[in-house]
Amino acid sequence: MNQPTTNNQQPATIVVLISGNGSNLQAILEACASGELNAQVVAVISNKRDAFGLERARRVNVPAIVKPKLKAQERREYDAELADLVASYQPDWVVLAGWMRVLSAAFLDRFPQHVVNLHPALPGTFPGIHAIERAYEAYQAGEMTHTGVMVHLVPDEGVDDGPVLAQEIVPIKADDTLESLEARVHAIEHRVLAATLKTLLQKGER
Ligand code: GAR
Repeated sequence: MNQPTTNNQQPATIVVLISGNGSNLQAILEACASGELNAQVVAVISNKRDAFGLERARRVNVPAIVKPKLKAQERREYDAELADLVASYQPDWVVLAGWMRVLSAAFLDRFPQHVVNLHPALPGTFPGIHAIERAYEAYQAGEMTHTGVMVHLVPDEGVDDGPVLAQEIVPIKADDTLESLEARVHAIEHRVLAATLKTLLQKGER
């Protein structure tokens, strides 16, 4: 973690962890480029070789690194190596934008209060994978009328759980398909994630 800086005009540094498409990474990159975020993405790290988000990073000359977990590797060993890699970029913030591995204390204790996760559901609902699909199925079963998105700090190994920084309800419509709901959720995620990071950065917390 960088030392607190006295000059808050200095762009904050962000390492983004991804596992896939990287549309939320794209939203962060665009918010940095437009000046909405006074920040710079200093590295993008994926645990998946074929994650399209790596290409999005390369396009704008951001280091794009593949760090898969080896089969023989213990989880904590991988997390410690990942933490070393992330720390080498001296980030102010670590953002999990579609990072689909639960991080252990071997990682999280290295960046206390500075790991931010995005999840496509409201707090306490549908943790883990396929959250939008499960919300859609729950709607079809008459169990709920809306889903949502949230951004939260990651204090421990709780799955998609931690102090909530922002949340927004996403209505589910009668004529929604899973695809139309996914598109709406993602569009809202892009906006909410950028706005939440902006608020964090403006607080001057590093
Ligand atoms: C996003 O919907 C994000 O909220 C979700 O993965 C997607 C990644 O999309 N994360 C989780 O489900 C975490 N449990 P992207 O790669 O296009 O940004």
